[in-house]
Amino acid sequence: MTIPTAEHTYNLSQYEGWKARFESPRRSRPRDLSSTDLGALNRRDRLLYDDARSVWHANLGPYLTPDIKYVIDQLDLIVQSNRQDGDRVRSAAVLDAYPGLGKTTLVCHYGGQFHRDQLDMYGTATEAGDDRVPVAYVRLTSNTTMRSLNSMLCHFYAHPAADRGNATVLGARASQRALDCATRLIIVDDVHFLDMNRRDGREVANHFKWLANEFAATFLFVGVGITERGLLSEGLSPTKVQYAQTARRWTRTSLAPFSIDDGPGRKTWRSLLLAIERDLVLANKSPGMVADVLADYLYARSTGHFASLMTLIARGCQRAVKTGAEALTIKLLDTVPNDQASENARRQLEAGIRDGRLSSRREAV
Ligand SMILES: Nc1ncnc2c1ncn2[C@@H]1O[C@H](COP(=O)(O)OP(=O)(O)OP(=O)(O)O)[C@@H](O)[C@H]1O
Ligand SMILES: [Mg+2]
Repeated sequence: MTIPTAEHTYNLSQYEGWKARFESPRRSRPRDLSSTDLGALNRRDRLLYDDARSVWHANLGPYLTPDIKYVIDQLDLIVQSNRQDGDRVRSAAVLDAYPGLGKTTLVCHYGGQFHRDQLDMYGTATEAGDDRVPVAYVRLTSNTTMRSLNSMLCHFYAHPAADRGNATVLGARASQRALDCATRLIIVDDVHFLDMNRRDGREVANHFKWLANEFAATFLFVGVGITERGLLSEGLSPTKVQYAQTARRWTRTSLAPFSIDDGPGRKTWRSLLLAIERDLVLANKSPGMVADVLADYLYARSTGHFASLMTLIARGCQRAVKTGAEALTIKLLDTVPNDQASENARRQLEAGIRDGRLSSRREAV
């Protein structure tokens, strides 16, 4: 039996998975039931309802904060203005930010929207009758070489010879597919996994330049510490950095953790918590349960990182359902573990909140 609300197992690094993800309708929210309604469900219906809520709470959003909207706007500007003829070099976009801030979620959201817009405008097939694939997405893994990067691109298009040949041959195959399928945006996620120690930064940067020249598409490179790794400066020494062509052709955007140091930061934090609160499907939830009562607590425990916040919310909801509390409270969330990085940084923030130096609510609207 298929349960329509169960989690999906898309592989976004293959065209079929990407298409299925961004062409299927949004998951629908489980209906709200009161405690009395819950009590009236038979055992199987209750199990199914709770299961649907687990999946729902684990996939909330994406929430588009002002920072995220700004980055999307920048990316769109780069992609939409990159309409040079084939003999001109297109610039590339870079999203470079620390782990767990929502890079992948952002670029996939943007890529999905771009995919749908292109199909709406130009149809699902190209003039020559190939499938239109407006966006290609590859996610690098540890020790990706230039050859395996090109091979991953071929795999995305399900090219039958995706594993055969050297880097150049594979690159040419991928570029041909991108051309045939009218691909306009190529997202290379986790680009920091490119094996930059074995080959110097210059060689990797040259490969990126080659990709940008060869493909009639805009590249969007996503990763952690791209600037620090010298990719933009092509591994050149600080005095020679002006010779780096990459820096002139790549536009860098970034994301920061949430901050409650100033008014706008606190407003963003509160708006996000309100949006999350609205989306929770718990029988005993009450207005302000997340956005007011838990605002400081959630900030300290997530240290303003999207990934840690959403993990905590999903696990908290799971526990609220399992224990029958059907609401989020500090007492309940205290029993939920979070990722190691945020647990380590939490103590310091909690101390600041306790002695009044830090609050997510002062001046908040
Ligand atoms: N805009 C958002 N709305 C809702 N949840 C989000 C959003 N951005 C991130 N998340 C949550 O945070 C988790 C991690 O986000 P994501 O994978 O996009 O971060 P990342 O910056 O790519 O991390 P990494 O550097 O580890 O690849 C997501 O699985 C999701 O649960
Ligand atoms: Mg990521």
